[in-house]
This record gives sequence, C-alpha cells and structure tokens, in this order.
Amino acid sequence: MSDHAPSLPHLRGHHGHFEAFCALMQQTAAGRFGPVWWGVWQQYIAPSLPDDGHVVDFGCGPGGFFASLRAHHPRVRLTGVEIQPAMLLAARELAQKLGAEVVEADLTQPLPLPDATADAAAAVMVLHEMPDPLPALREMHRVLKPGGALLLYDWTRQPLRTYLEGRVLDAEILQHFREHCLYTSDDLAFLAQNAGFEVQEVIGRKDNGYAMLALRRPA
Ligand SMILES: C[S@@+](CC[C@H](N)C(=O)[O-])C[C@H]1O[C@@H](n2cnc3c(N)ncnc32)[C@H](O)[C@@H]1O
Repeated sequence: MSDHAPSLPHLRGHHGHFEAFCALMQQTAAGRFGPVWWGVWQQYIAPSLPDDGHVVDFGCGPGGFFASLRAHHPRVRLTGVEIQPAMLLAARELAQKLGAEVVEADLTQPLPLPDATADAAAAVMVLHEMPDPLPALREMHRVLKPGGALLLYDWTRQPLRTYLEGRVLDAEILQHFREHCLYTSDDLAFLAQNAGFEVQEVIGRKDNGYAMLALRRPA
C-alpha cells in the first residue's frame, strides 16, 4: 500500500506510536460525537440525508463515529476512509459488526469512490494532519452529491499558554502545537470555500480551541 499512501510517513511523525494513538482515539471518541456534534448534525447535515442515504467518514480512525451514526440513522450506508494500519484494523472490526465498509485510501490522492455518491459526510480531526489539505477537500467535494453536506471538526489556533493546559513545555509539545494550532476557524472556512464548498455555519468549541464547520456542496 505504501506506494499509494504518500501520507503514511508524515502520519507516523504526527501520530507517534500507531497502536497507542489508535487507542487514544477510541478512548476519546465519545467526547467528539456527543450532544453538541449531534445538535449540529441534526440542524445542518441530517436534512441532506435520506433514511437509506450514504454517509462517508473521511479519516474515520478506529470508527468512533460508526456506532453513534448507526444509532441515529439505522438504515444508511456507511463508508469509512482510512490509511493508518492500526486504525484500519480497528475500524474494520467494528464495521463488520455494524454493517459498514472501510476503504483503505490516502485522502490526499484520488479516492476510489465515485463522483457525487454521498449524501452526507464527516471529517473529524483529520485536516490538520495534512501538510496540504486542499486536494483532500476537493476529493470530499467530488464524492458528495450536489446539495450534500459535510461536517468538518478540527483544531483551531489558540495561544500556547491555553494549548499547554499545564503540560510540560518541550520540543514534542511544540511540534503538536504547530500541527494543531495552525488554522483559525476562518482559515478552515477559506480552505473549504477554495475547494468549492459553501459554508453554512462555523461553530467555535471549547474556548475556540476547535471549530465545527457545516459545509455544503452547492446544489
Ligand atoms: C485524529 S484521528 C481522528 C479519527 C476519527 N475521525 C475520530 O474522530 O475518531 C485522524 C485520522 O485521520 C486519518 N488520516 C490523516 N491523514 C490521512 C490521509 N491522508 N488519508 C487517510 N486517512 C488520514 C488518520 O490516520 C487518523 O486515523
């Protein structure tokens, strides 16, 4: 797979130990896909999603969104896209139980998903992991149907003092700071617009350390 996965070496640097990072994503998923997420989803994303529609989770990690999505939309077709081996293993195990599918692919490359086939999509804590997120945003736009909606959730720029939250200031944390705190929510909106999306709403989260962006592929 590595020839077709140019992002893997970069991710190894960002994630550190693949299995440990996968476990961390499993432990913290409930916090990401809680009541605020579902409130935004119901308002901006669900209206584009028929009962038997298709949802794609771009950068699905270990599948932390899968069970929660099934509970809210029991009949939808669910496809996760992922590249990191430990994440793929965990996501596939869960997908088998929940009747979902997981596609191994690099989001920065042309995806093996047809044009205009998804009604709704999620990209959670994924964009900041790419040195150039525009090709991935363009692929998300291509895969969504006109009128389809994407809920993007990611880190946003915040002061180092706030980011540290009492952790030790060292070279490693500074590297994470550079990766996590690059974009403002307005930068994320600007990137999405450059890829062809219409921005429906931008919602700052947790003292603006994160933002949720409700995006739409114009009809
Ligand atoms: C921080 S994790 C979040 C996982 C999941 N969305 C969640 O919230 O639980 C980001 C995920 O995006 C995946 N990812 C990052 N860059 C990717 C790329 N170029 N292609 C495919 N997956 C990618 C990573 O492997 C990782 O699993």
